[in-house]
Amino acid sequence: MKKIAVIPGDGIGPEVTAEAVRVLRHIAALNDVKLELTEFDWGADKFLKEGITLPEGGLELLSGFDAILAGAFGDPRVPSNKHAEDILLGMRRGLDLYINLRPVRLLHERLTPLRDRKTNDIDFVVFRENTEGAYCGAGGFLKRGTADEIALQEEVNTRSGVERIIVAAFEYAKAEGRKRVTMADKSNVQRFGGDLWQRVFKEVAKEYQGIETNHQYVDAMAMFMVLDPGQYDVIVSNNLFGDILTDLGAAIQGGLGLAASGNIHPGRVSLFEPVHGSAPPLAGKGIANPLGAILTSAMMLKYLGFPKQSDQIERAVGDAIAATETTKDLGGQLSTQQAGSAIIERLK
Ligand code: NAD
Ligand code: IPM
Ligand code: MN
Repeated sequence: MKKIAVIPGDGIGPEVTAEAVRVLRHIAALNDVKLELTEFDWGADKFLKEGITLPEGGLELLSGFDAILAGAFGDPRVPSNKHAEDILLGMRRGLDLYINLRPVRLLHERLTPLRDRKTNDIDFVVFRENTEGAYCGAGGFLKRGTADEIALQEEVNTRSGVERIIVAAFEYAKAEGRKRVTMADKSNVQRFGGDLWQRVFKEVAKEYQGIETNHQYVDAMAMFMVLDPGQYDVIVSNNLFGDILTDLGAAIQGGLGLAASGNIHPGRVSLFEPVHGSAPPLAGKGIANPLGAILTSAMMLKYLGFPKQSDQIERAVGDAIAATETTKDLGGQLSTQQAGSAIIERLK
């Protein structure tokens, strides 16, 4: 029996999560896999009504689960983004989910905006550091609101934090038979943090002799990801660069509606969520693509020890895309629910 906490969140979060949950329940029933799903109403509505973001004791509560499946957090009624920061970044930091694993894989050549790219030209995985960097929340204002205002926004890079994400990237490459690990940074400008990343990368690489390594400045990587995505196998980067690169990665594999992610601390409760946000303009219309959330649930099943069921879902998604049984963003005509049903039909 696996216990899963479900946090649909805001905007399109509940719509796409509902489809991921339907798929999960279906595949569990078919395969005699026992999943116990418990839903939590954390998000903008709760914050606006009750002033509660991440409830007290929330992290301890989540620690009793095997995994967390989340939708998205962010709502125009909360311009400060306070609830999303408390809940999402609160889980990532508070549960020490230091690996943000974001695969970029082209499931069908029709989906990429890049010209003449085949499916095997776009198939890599990004290891995004997920607990520090520019997301540490350190900084402050001086003379706020005056002409002399100063805003400081700090970035934290710890030796142990940098090392564990780089090791995770190499371990993944070794386990999955990937031939190259590429690190992206901006060490030509960010002399201190960049220097630490460079040194640790070289040290760790020595322990993985069979794996090729290379380094790119992140601006160049953004360019090469468009011009020559086939060169990448495993990318490792810091929190902020990883965030930006994975929206670009999502775009070249068919859009944010398709991109899945896992926030992982190996061996501990981990959080799975689509890469996309709450997409306010789409919310409530039944048009959001649920495949990112569904592929996310497949990632979660793999993490929980059900690789066969995970593969089944991925295959069903690939087949539905090939048949253009998708929402509009992928060229189909289906609603969010119908797109979820198209996956379930293929699992029967
Ligand atoms: P977004 O990812 O929500 O949406 C950007 C655009 O991508 C959408 O307008 C839409 O065109 C497309 N898109 C995204 N998901 C889609 C889907 N499932 N199907 C079809 N098209 C889809 O990014 P944003 O507009 O920059 O942010 C909106 C809110 O979401 C903000 O509050 C932001 O902070 C938050 N956000 C949350 C998360 C998260 O919870 N993990 C991630 C990213 C953004
Ligand atoms: C993501 C999102 C989040 C991030 C936001 C909503 C805090 O963009 O998960 O990619 O920046 O990590
Ligand atoms: Mn992002």
